[in-house]
Amino acid sequence: MKPHNRKGAHSRPNTYLSRKKRTVVMHDIAALQHRIAQELLDIGIPEQPENLYDPIRYMLQIGGKRIRPLLTLMAADLFTIPDMGQALPAALAIELFHNFSLVHDDIMDNAPLRRGQQTVHERWNDNIAILSGDKLLIMAYTQLARCDSDKLPPLMETFNTMAAEVCEGQQLDMDFENKISVGIDEYIQMIRLKTSVLLGTALKMGAILADAHETDATLIYHFGVNVGIAFQLQDDILDVYGDPQHFGKKRGGDILANKKTYLLVKALDMADAETKAELTHWLADRSQPAAKIDGVTAIYDKLGVQSAVEAAKQTYIQQAFMALDNVRVESTRKAPLRTLAQNLLVRTQ
Ligand code: IPE
Ligand code: IPE
Ligand code: MG
Ligand code: MG
Ligand code: MG
Repeated sequence: MKPHNRKGAHSRPNTYLSRKKRTVVMHDIAALQHRIAQELLDIGIPEQPENLYDPIRYMLQIGGKRIRPLLTLMAADLFTIPDMGQALPAALAIELFHNFSLVHDDIMDNAPLRRGQQTVHERWNDNIAILSGDKLLIMAYTQLARCDSDKLPPLMETFNTMAAEVCEGQQLDMDFENKISVGIDEYIQMIRLKTSVLLGTALKMGAILADAHETDATLIYHFGVNVGIAFQLQDDILDVYGDPQHFGKKRGGDILANKKTYLLVKALDMADAETKAELTHWLADRSQPAAKIDGVTAIYDKLGVQSAVEAAKQTYIQQAFMALDNVRVESTRKAPLRTLAQNLLVRTQ
Protein backbone atom coordinates (compact mmCIF):
# COMPACT_ATOMS: atom_id res chain seq x y z
CA MET A 1 0.00 0.00 0.00
CA LYS A 2 1.24 3.43 -0.83
CA PRO A 3 0.15 5.92 1.81
CA HIS A 4 -1.37 9.08 0.50
CA ASN A 5 0.66 12.06 1.59
CA ARG A 6 -1.94 14.77 1.99
CA LYS A 7 0.28 17.80 2.33
CA GLY A 8 3.60 16.43 1.20
CA ALA A 9 4.59 16.76 4.85
CA HIS A 10 8.06 15.45 4.24
CA SER A 11 8.85 17.18 1.01
CA ARG A 12 8.70 20.63 2.56
CA PRO A 13 8.64 21.93 6.11
CA ASN A 14 5.27 22.50 7.72
CA THR A 15 5.36 26.27 7.98
CA TYR A 16 2.41 26.38 10.36
CA LEU A 17 4.41 28.46 12.78
CA SER A 18 6.17 30.63 10.30
CA ARG A 19 3.17 31.53 8.23
CA LYS A 20 2.38 34.78 10.00
CA LYS A 21 5.71 36.50 10.39
CA ARG A 22 8.82 35.48 8.60
CA THR A 23 11.36 36.81 11.04
CA VAL A 24 14.72 35.14 11.31
CA VAL A 25 13.58 33.34 14.43
CA MET A 26 10.44 32.00 12.78
CA HIS A 27 12.52 30.88 9.86
CA ASP A 28 14.68 28.88 12.28
CA ILE A 29 11.53 27.20 13.58
CA ALA A 30 10.60 26.11 10.06
CA ALA A 31 14.12 24.70 9.72
CA LEU A 32 13.70 22.72 12.96
CA GLN A 33 10.36 21.37 11.75
CA HIS A 34 11.99 20.36 8.50
CA ARG A 35 14.71 18.55 10.40
CA ILE A 36 12.15 16.68 12.50
CA ALA A 37 10.18 15.69 9.38
CA GLN A 38 13.35 14.46 7.70
CA GLU A 39 14.42 12.43 10.74
CA LEU A 40 10.99 10.80 10.94
CA LEU A 41 11.20 9.94 7.28
CA ASP A 42 14.61 8.33 7.79
CA ILE A 43 13.65 6.44 10.92
CA GLY A 44 13.73 3.07 9.21
CA ILE A 45 10.48 1.14 9.19
CA PRO A 46 10.63 -2.50 8.06
CA GLU A 47 8.47 -3.67 5.12
CA GLN A 48 7.03 -6.86 6.61
CA PRO A 49 4.52 -7.64 7.95
CA GLU A 50 2.76 -5.01 5.86
CA ASN A 51 -0.25 -4.83 8.15
CA LEU A 52 2.01 -3.85 11.03
CA TYR A 53 4.28 -1.37 9.26
CA ASP A 54 2.08 0.23 6.60
CA PRO A 55 -0.17 1.83 9.24
CA ILE A 56 2.90 3.22 11.01
CA ARG A 57 4.29 4.68 7.79
CA TYR A 58 0.84 6.05 7.02
CA MET A 59 0.44 7.68 10.42
CA LEU A 60 3.86 9.32 10.24
CA GLN A 61 3.33 10.58 6.69
CA ILE A 62 -0.18 12.03 6.73
CA GLY A 63 0.97 15.21 8.44
CA GLY A 64 0.76 16.53 11.97
CA LYS A 65 2.05 19.79 13.30
CA ARG A 66 5.06 18.23 15.08
CA ILE A 67 4.60 20.67 17.96
CA ARG A 68 5.95 18.41 20.69
CA PRO A 69 9.33 17.53 19.15
CA LEU A 70 9.66 21.20 18.24
CA LEU A 71 9.21 22.04 21.93
CA THR A 72 11.99 19.63 22.88
CA LEU A 73 14.37 21.23 20.39
CA MET A 74 13.34 24.75 21.35
CA ALA A 75 13.89 24.06 25.06
CA ALA A 76 17.28 22.53 24.30
CA ASP A 77 18.11 25.67 22.34
CA LEU A 78 16.77 27.97 25.08
CA PHE A 79 19.21 26.41 27.52
CA THR A 80 21.97 26.57 24.88
CA ILE A 81 22.65 22.95 24.10
CA PRO A 82 25.97 22.88 22.19
CA ASP A 83 24.66 20.62 19.42
CA MET A 84 20.96 20.42 18.56
CA GLY A 85 21.52 16.89 17.20
CA GLN A 86 21.89 15.71 20.81
CA ALA A 87 18.21 16.51 21.42
CA LEU A 88 16.86 14.86 18.28
CA PRO A 89 16.36 11.31 19.65
CA ALA A 90 14.33 12.72 22.56
CA ALA A 91 12.31 14.88 20.17
CA LEU A 92 11.56 11.83 18.02
CA ALA A 93 10.67 9.76 21.08
CA ILE A 94 8.11 12.38 22.06
CA GLU A 95 6.57 12.54 18.57
CA LEU A 96 6.42 8.75 18.27
CA PHE A 97 4.75 8.51 21.67
CA HIS A 98 2.25 11.17 20.57
CA ASN A 99 1.43 9.21 17.40
CA PHE A 100 1.04 5.99 19.40
CA SER A 101 -1.42 7.77 21.69
CA LEU A 102 -3.40 9.13 18.72
CA VAL A 103 -3.77 5.73 17.03
CA HIS A 104 -5.15 4.25 20.24
CA ASP A 105 -7.16 7.39 21.07
CA ASP A 106 -8.96 7.14 17.74
CA ILE A 107 -10.12 3.62 18.58
CA MET A 108 -11.29 4.74 22.02
CA ASP A 109 -13.07 7.79 20.57
CA ASN A 110 -14.46 5.91 17.59
CA ALA A 111 -13.00 8.64 15.37
CA PRO A 112 -13.13 8.21 11.58
CA LEU A 113 -10.78 11.06 10.60
CA ARG A 114 -7.34 12.22 11.66
CA ARG A 115 -5.18 14.82 9.91
CA GLY A 116 -7.78 14.93 7.15
CA GLN A 117 -7.38 11.21 6.44
CA GLN A 118 -9.03 8.01 7.57
CA THR A 119 -7.90 6.89 11.00
CA VAL A 120 -5.80 3.73 11.20
CA HIS A 121 -8.56 1.63 12.79
CA GLU A 122 -10.98 2.80 10.10
CA ARG A 123 -8.64 2.18 7.17
CA TRP A 124 -7.43 -1.16 8.51
CA ASN A 125 -9.16 -2.43 11.69
CA ASP A 126 -9.05 -2.18 15.48
CA ASN A 127 -6.61 -5.03 16.02
CA ILE A 128 -4.19 -3.62 13.47
CA ALA A 129 -4.48 -0.18 15.09
CA ILE A 130 -3.78 -1.66 18.54
CA LEU A 131 -0.68 -3.47 17.38
CA SER A 132 0.76 -0.73 15.17
CA GLY A 133 0.13 1.69 18.04
CA ASP A 134 2.08 -0.64 20.34
CA LYS A 135 4.96 -0.71 17.87
CA LEU A 136 4.99 3.10 17.71
CA LEU A 137 5.38 3.09 21.49
CA ILE A 138 8.29 0.65 21.23
CA MET A 139 9.83 2.89 18.57
CA ALA A 140 9.53 5.81 21.00
CA TYR A 141 11.56 3.91 23.59
CA THR A 142 14.11 2.89 20.96
CA GLN A 143 14.71 6.59 20.28
CA LEU A 144 14.81 7.39 23.97
CA ALA A 145 17.54 4.79 24.45
CA ARG A 146 19.70 6.68 21.91
CA CYS A 147 19.93 9.73 24.22
CA ASP A 148 23.19 10.53 26.01
CA SER A 149 23.58 7.74 28.58
CA ASP A 150 24.44 10.24 31.37
CA LYS A 151 21.08 11.88 30.88
CA LEU A 152 19.09 8.67 30.47
CA PRO A 153 18.02 8.14 34.11
CA PRO A 154 16.30 11.55 34.50
CA LEU A 155 14.95 11.36 30.94
CA MET A 156 13.45 7.92 31.54
CA GLU A 157 11.96 9.05 34.81
CA THR A 158 10.23 12.08 33.36
CA PHE A 159 9.15 10.19 30.22
CA ASN A 160 7.69 7.27 32.16
CA THR A 161 5.90 9.51 34.63
CA MET A 162 4.33 11.33 31.69
CA ALA A 163 3.41 8.10 29.87
CA ALA A 164 1.62 6.72 32.95
CA GLU A 165 -0.19 10.03 33.44
CA VAL A 166 -1.39 10.08 29.82
CA CYS A 167 -2.95 6.63 30.41
CA GLU A 168 -4.60 7.93 33.58
CA GLY A 169 -5.97 10.95 31.71
CA GLN A 170 -7.28 8.81 28.86
CA GLN A 171 -9.07 6.54 31.34
CA LEU A 172 -10.65 9.53 33.10
CA ASP A 173 -11.69 10.92 29.70
CA MET A 174 -13.54 7.66 28.98
CA ASP A 175 -14.96 7.38 32.52
CA PHE A 176 -16.39 10.90 32.18
CA GLU A 177 -18.38 9.88 29.06
CA ASN A 178 -20.71 8.02 31.41
CA LYS A 179 -20.76 10.60 34.15
CA ILE A 180 -23.17 13.53 33.88
CA SER A 181 -21.77 15.67 36.62
CA VAL A 182 -18.13 16.52 36.05
CA GLY A 183 -16.70 19.58 37.79
CA ILE A 184 -14.41 22.08 36.05
CA ASP A 185 -11.57 21.07 38.39
CA GLU A 186 -12.03 17.38 37.52
CA TYR A 187 -12.10 18.28 33.85
CA ILE A 188 -8.89 20.34 34.11
CA GLN A 189 -7.16 17.52 35.97
CA MET A 190 -8.24 15.08 33.22
CA ILE A 191 -6.84 17.23 30.39
CA ARG A 192 -3.71 18.02 32.38
CA LEU A 193 -3.07 14.26 32.39
CA LYS A 194 -4.20 13.27 28.90
CA THR A 195 -2.67 16.20 27.00
CA SER A 196 -0.69 18.78 28.96
CA VAL A 197 1.98 16.71 30.67
CA LEU A 198 3.18 15.60 27.24
CA LEU A 199 3.88 19.19 26.22
CA GLY A 200 5.51 19.88 29.58
CA THR A 201 7.65 16.76 29.32
CA ALA A 202 8.70 17.58 25.76
CA LEU A 203 10.15 20.87 27.04
CA LYS A 204 11.63 19.37 30.20
CA MET A 205 13.50 16.75 28.21
CA GLY A 206 15.10 19.50 26.13
CA ALA A 207 16.05 21.27 29.36
CA ILE A 208 17.58 18.10 30.85
CA LEU A 209 19.60 17.46 27.70
CA ALA A 210 20.91 21.02 27.78
CA ASP A 211 21.98 20.66 31.42
CA ALA A 212 19.52 23.27 32.66
CA HIS A 213 19.27 23.76 36.42
CA GLU A 214 16.47 21.67 37.98
CA THR A 215 14.56 24.83 38.94
CA ASP A 216 14.52 25.99 35.32
CA ALA A 217 13.62 22.51 34.04
CA THR A 218 10.63 22.54 36.40
CA LEU A 219 9.62 26.05 35.31
CA ILE A 220 9.74 25.17 31.62
CA TYR A 221 7.70 22.05 32.43
CA HIS A 222 5.05 24.25 34.09
CA PHE A 223 5.09 26.56 31.10
CA GLY A 224 4.37 23.54 28.89
CA VAL A 225 1.65 22.10 31.12
CA ASN A 226 -0.23 25.41 31.17
CA VAL A 227 0.20 25.89 27.42
CA GLY A 228 -1.04 22.30 27.09
CA ILE A 229 -4.23 23.05 29.03
CA ALA A 230 -4.93 26.04 26.77
CA PHE A 231 -4.08 23.81 23.78
CA GLN A 232 -6.68 21.20 24.80
CA LEU A 233 -9.27 23.93 25.45
CA GLN A 234 -8.69 25.13 21.88
CA ASP A 235 -9.02 21.50 20.72
CA ASP A 236 -12.41 21.30 22.47
CA ILE A 237 -13.50 24.51 20.69
CA LEU A 238 -12.29 23.29 17.29
CA ASP A 239 -14.17 20.01 17.66
CA VAL A 240 -17.40 22.03 17.56
CA TYR A 241 -16.52 25.24 15.75
CA GLY A 242 -13.48 24.31 13.66
CA ASP A 243 -13.40 24.10 9.90
CA PRO A 244 -13.08 20.34 9.25
CA GLN A 245 -10.97 21.11 6.18
CA HIS A 246 -8.29 22.62 8.41
CA PHE A 247 -8.88 20.68 11.59
CA GLY A 248 -8.80 17.31 9.85
CA LYS A 249 -11.16 15.60 12.30
CA LYS A 250 -14.87 14.90 12.17
CA ARG A 251 -16.88 17.87 13.43
CA GLY A 252 -18.81 17.16 16.62
CA GLY A 253 -16.91 13.97 17.46
CA ASP A 254 -16.80 14.97 21.13
CA ILE A 255 -20.56 15.64 21.15
CA LEU A 256 -21.33 12.20 19.71
CA ALA A 257 -19.08 10.49 22.25
CA ASN A 258 -20.57 12.46 25.16
CA LYS A 259 -17.09 13.76 25.95
CA LYS A 260 -16.98 16.03 28.92
CA THR A 261 -15.28 18.91 27.17
CA TYR A 262 -14.91 22.33 28.73
CA LEU A 263 -17.84 23.46 26.59
CA LEU A 264 -20.16 20.76 27.89
CA VAL A 265 -19.09 21.05 31.51
CA LYS A 266 -19.55 24.82 31.34
CA ALA A 267 -22.88 24.51 29.50
CA LEU A 268 -24.27 22.16 32.16
CA ASP A 269 -23.04 24.66 34.74
CA MET A 270 -24.56 27.75 33.07
CA ALA A 271 -27.86 26.32 31.82
CA ASP A 272 -31.26 27.06 33.38
CA ALA A 273 -33.48 24.07 34.26
CA GLU A 274 -35.14 23.92 30.85
CA THR A 275 -31.91 24.13 28.84
CA LYS A 276 -30.28 21.62 31.14
CA ALA A 277 -33.13 19.17 30.51
CA GLU A 278 -32.67 19.68 26.77
CA LEU A 279 -28.94 19.04 27.05
CA THR A 280 -29.49 15.94 29.18
CA HIS A 281 -31.96 14.68 26.62
CA TRP A 282 -29.32 15.01 23.88
CA LEU A 283 -26.72 13.25 26.04
CA ALA A 284 -29.04 10.24 26.28
CA ASP A 285 -29.84 10.24 22.54
CA ARG A 286 -27.65 8.03 20.39
CA SER A 287 -30.05 7.57 17.49
CA GLN A 288 -29.75 10.85 15.53
CA PRO A 289 -26.08 11.83 15.30
CA ALA A 290 -26.46 14.83 12.97
CA ALA A 291 -29.38 16.28 14.95
CA LYS A 292 -27.46 15.70 18.18
CA ILE A 293 -24.46 17.70 16.94
CA ASP A 294 -26.72 20.54 15.76
CA GLY A 295 -28.85 20.46 18.89
CA VAL A 296 -25.93 20.57 21.32
CA THR A 297 -24.12 23.21 19.24
CA ALA A 298 -27.25 25.39 19.29
CA ILE A 299 -27.30 25.16 23.10
CA TYR A 300 -23.62 26.11 23.27
CA ASP A 301 -24.36 29.09 21.01
CA LYS A 302 -27.34 30.17 23.09
CA LEU A 303 -25.37 29.99 26.34
CA GLY A 304 -22.29 31.63 24.83
CA VAL A 305 -19.97 28.95 26.24
CA GLN A 306 -17.29 29.75 23.69
CA SER A 307 -16.46 33.04 25.40
CA ALA A 308 -16.12 31.21 28.72
CA VAL A 309 -13.60 28.83 27.12
CA GLU A 310 -11.72 31.77 25.57
CA ALA A 311 -11.46 33.36 29.01
CA ALA A 312 -10.16 30.12 30.51
CA LYS A 313 -7.55 29.83 27.74
CA GLN A 314 -6.30 33.30 28.66
CA THR A 315 -5.99 32.32 32.34
CA TYR A 316 -3.83 29.32 31.52
CA ILE A 317 -1.67 31.16 29.02
CA GLN A 318 -1.01 33.86 31.62
CA GLN A 319 0.10 31.16 34.07
CA ALA A 320 2.30 29.69 31.36
CA PHE A 321 3.93 33.07 30.71
CA MET A 322 4.52 33.62 34.43
CA ALA A 323 6.47 30.35 34.57
CA LEU A 324 8.41 31.26 31.42
CA ASP A 325 9.22 34.73 32.82
CA ASN A 326 10.83 33.07 35.84
CA VAL A 327 13.14 30.88 33.77
CA ARG A 328 16.62 32.24 34.37
CA VAL A 329 17.53 32.88 30.77
CA GLU A 330 17.82 36.21 28.96
CA SER A 331 14.29 37.31 28.07
CA THR A 332 14.88 37.77 24.33
CA ARG A 333 15.80 34.09 24.02
CA LYS A 334 12.31 33.18 25.21
CA ALA A 335 10.56 35.04 22.36
CA PRO A 336 10.15 32.03 20.03
CA LEU A 337 8.45 29.99 22.77
CA ARG A 338 6.14 32.90 23.54
CA THR A 339 5.18 33.28 19.89
CA LEU A 340 4.64 29.54 19.52
CA ALA A 341 2.37 29.43 22.58
CA GLN A 342 0.36 32.38 21.29
CA ASN A 343 -0.03 30.77 17.86
CA LEU A 344 -1.20 27.50 19.40
CA LEU A 345 -3.98 29.36 21.16
CA VAL A 346 -5.51 30.58 17.91
CA ARG A 347 -4.68 27.49 15.86
CA THR A 348 -7.25 26.25 13.37
CA GLN A 349 -5.65 22.84 12.79
C1 IPE B 1 -3.94 16.16 18.95
O1 IPE B 1 -2.73 16.83 19.00
C2 IPE B 1 -4.22 15.55 20.27
C3 IPE B 1 -4.53 16.53 21.33
C4 IPE B 1 -3.90 16.54 22.44
C5 IPE B 1 -5.59 17.50 21.18
P1 IPE B 1 -2.22 17.71 17.78
O2 IPE B 1 -3.26 18.73 17.43
O3 IPE B 1 -0.87 18.26 18.12
O4 IPE B 1 -2.11 16.66 16.61
P2 IPE B 1 -1.17 16.60 15.34
O5 IPE B 1 0.05 15.82 15.71
O6 IPE B 1 -0.84 18.01 14.91
O7 IPE B 1 -1.98 15.88 14.31
C1 IPE C 1 -6.28 13.59 22.99
O1 IPE C 1 -7.51 14.03 23.34
C2 IPE C 1 -5.44 13.03 24.08
C3 IPE C 1 -4.55 11.94 23.63
C4 IPE C 1 -4.48 11.50 22.41
C5 IPE C 1 -3.72 11.30 24.62
P1 IPE C 1 -8.60 14.11 22.19
O2 IPE C 1 -9.30 12.82 22.04
O3 IPE C 1 -9.42 15.33 22.41
O4 IPE C 1 -7.69 14.35 20.89
P2 IPE C 1 -8.21 14.40 19.41
O5 IPE C 1 -9.24 15.50 19.35
O6 IPE C 1 -8.79 13.07 19.09
O7 IPE C 1 -7.00 14.74 18.61
MG1 MG D 1 -9.78 11.78 20.22
MG1 MG E 1 -9.70 11.18 23.25
MG1 MG F 1 -10.21 16.55 20.70
